Amino acid sequence: MRITLALAVAGLIRALLALPSQTIFQNIPDDAYRIPTVHESAVMARRILHLSTLGTLSTIFPASTSTQEIRPSDVSGTAIGLVDYIADCEHATGNPTILALDIATSFKNVAAGSNISLSLNWVPPSGQVRSPASLPRFSLQGYLEDVSAAEAAEHAIPACFAKYHPDARARYPGNRIHSSRWTRLVVQEVYWIGGFGDRAFIGWIPVREWRNVTREEVRDCVLPGEEKRTTWMEWFGFR
Ligand SMILES: *[C@@H]1O[C@H](CO)[C@@H](O)[C@H](O)[C@H]1NC(C)=O
Ligand SMILES: *[C@@H]1O[C@H](CO)[C@@H](O)[C@H](O)[C@H]1NC(C)=O
Repeated sequence: MRITLALAVAGLIRALLALPSQTIFQNIPDDAYRIPTVHESAVMARRILHLSTLGTLSTIFPASTSTQEIRPSDVSGTAIGLVDYIADCEHATGNPTILALDIATSFKNVAAGSNISLSLNWVPPSGQVRSPASLPRFSLQGYLEDVSAAEAAEHAIPACFAKYHPDARARYPGNRIHSSRWTRLVVQEVYWIGGFGDRAFIGWIPVREWRNVTREEVRDCVLPGEEKRTTWMEWFGFR
């Protein structure tokens, strides 16, 4: 009797894990040649942010000053893109969460007055891509803002960030080795390249569209080449 029950439960769990999501989710236009709307592109961008753990932070080296570290003087004014840890912890705004280490070049440049942008790109987990140029990528232009301790608690930032980066806890604010802060990239502009221009939207996504994407839209969106297997956790909104 107990064994039968256990088998039934195991079967149910297996069925839930293997929900045939392709038939449920219909975010991508049916007609493969219809160019996605700006809003559909915003939803894809928000899903890419939601699934990404790393992004490239681009900043500009300031003019050299004698108080700064030694670096080649001719890099002043040039852009440097460095990959860093990010997380999607503030759904209401879509502002990415970044753990800023004061010692890292990107944050030193910002402290010295540089602007900053974050670029992300979508790589299907299957790795089976006919043409990488057909895949979405985009850049978020904005500025870094400190997340106060109260806000970090309110939005459960440490726990959210740990879901994306279990190894980052040792560098959380208050650690003994690095001076670090919770920050958010306040998104002001979104430049989107959905893929080839004959079948993807390429251009600026209004920030209002970026912000008003719903959790359900992010959950239900299927990115190109994404093998969507929504787990029951995601289905019930736990992730
Ligand atoms: C940063 O970007 C703003 C436009 O958003 C511009 O006015 C400002 O000059 C830029 N700052 C630097 C240091 O380039
Ligand atoms: C999101 O914002 C855009 C632009 O303001 C608007 O056209 C659209 O109706 C909004 N969608 C929702 C779900 O609020």
